[in-house]
Amino acid sequence: MAQRDFTTQMAFSYKETTGSHDLLKPFAFDFDHQVIGNALTIQADCIEWLSRIPENTLHAIVTDPPYGVKEYETEQIEKRAAANGGIWRIPPSFDGSERSPLPRFTALDEKERAIVRKFFTSWAKLVLRALRPGGHVFIASNAYLSQLVFSALVDGGLEFRGELIRLVRTLRGGDRPKNAEQEFPHVSSLARGCYEPWGILRKPLLKGMKVSDCLREFQTGGLRRTPDDKPFSDVIFSERTPKKEKEIVDHPSLKPQSFLRQVVHASLPLGVGIVVDPFMGSGSTIAAAEALGFSSIGVERYLSYYQMSQRAISQLSRIIVQLGNSSLNSAIELDTGSQSELPTVQTRIWDE
Ligand SMILES: C[S@@+](CC[C@H](N)C(=O)[O-])C[C@H]1O[C@@H](n2cnc3c(N)ncnc32)[C@H](O)[C@@H]1O
Repeated sequence: MAQRDFTTQMAFSYKETTGSHDLLKPFAFDFDHQVIGNALTIQADCIEWLSRIPENTLHAIVTDPPYGVKEYETEQIEKRAAANGGIWRIPPSFDGSERSPLPRFTALDEKERAIVRKFFTSWAKLVLRALRPGGHVFIASNAYLSQLVFSALVDGGLEFRGELIRLVRTLRGGDRPKNAEQEFPHVSSLARGCYEPWGILRKPLLKGMKVSDCLREFQTGGLRRTPDDKPFSDVIFSERTPKKEKEIVDHPSLKPQSFLRQVVHASLPLGVGIVVDPFMGSGSTIAAAEALGFSSIGVERYLSYYQMSQRAISQLSRIIVQLGNSSLNSAIELDTGSQSELPTVQTRIWDE
């Protein structure tokens, strides 16, 4: 297909994108893909995929990238599976409970940090082209690398719009100095992690454009208010991913539906358009979009995680999330007419 025809076909109005998964199919190019409800999932390297997306097309990105870039290299995934070396380590058990392997971002040396910076700057340049003006990027990070990752994204041309704090006890850090625990019983090497920082970035608006103009022309530029009509807040009380979600899928970085649905909901200010997760993993962001009835595209490079997502997306999207007095399950409630047989997650909201 000629690039011009392709661009015209993809630059459809936002109304057409909602609920029309056939219109998403051209985004699969020649990659292996699958349509699941309103979502298109693609097995590809997102760098290659993004470089093929026409300019000014996507409405939002919500993603949880490989923070240190290297922990999701095939070699590191295999070392993790064999519990033998690499960047993943088994942290000490806490309160008697077993903890899953975590990547050691503090172990990145100068050269590896330079690779992370370069990767995110180039990635931001691709995102900048593919997003519509005013399109938002929500990107997960961690306390050790956020400063590096966010500044690399700004170097790539994205506008920094603040940080979203996911309040969650990650159980990272807080340990006494290694092999000298007895000698220094009152010291921790690092603060214990109690939050996860997410960058909020945006493709700059066109020159002279106000948010209202951008909303009219591109359906982007702002953030959607919560279902109970409060501004989206940059602190979210969260939880570690509930067991019932981990039982659905065993990806090492699975994020909870209760959190992701709030973020995905905010990312499309008019509730319409295409939200993309270029580092889809097992598909929790796409499941959140599916639960909300949004059109979405997920891209995952690693075959076994891609295969996991095929089963997980519909199951995760059917989890019922209770947020105070409101819910973020609209599509499911409409579909099923009943919530009684579906797993429910209660979560706290920030009271104003
Ligand atoms: C932190 S995980 C995301 C997990 C996801 N939040 C979930 O719920 O499963 C990052 C994912 O990005 C994938 N990945 C890494 N580099 C990639 C690339 N260049 N293109 C597409 N996917 C990539 C990894 O295989 C991994 O599954």
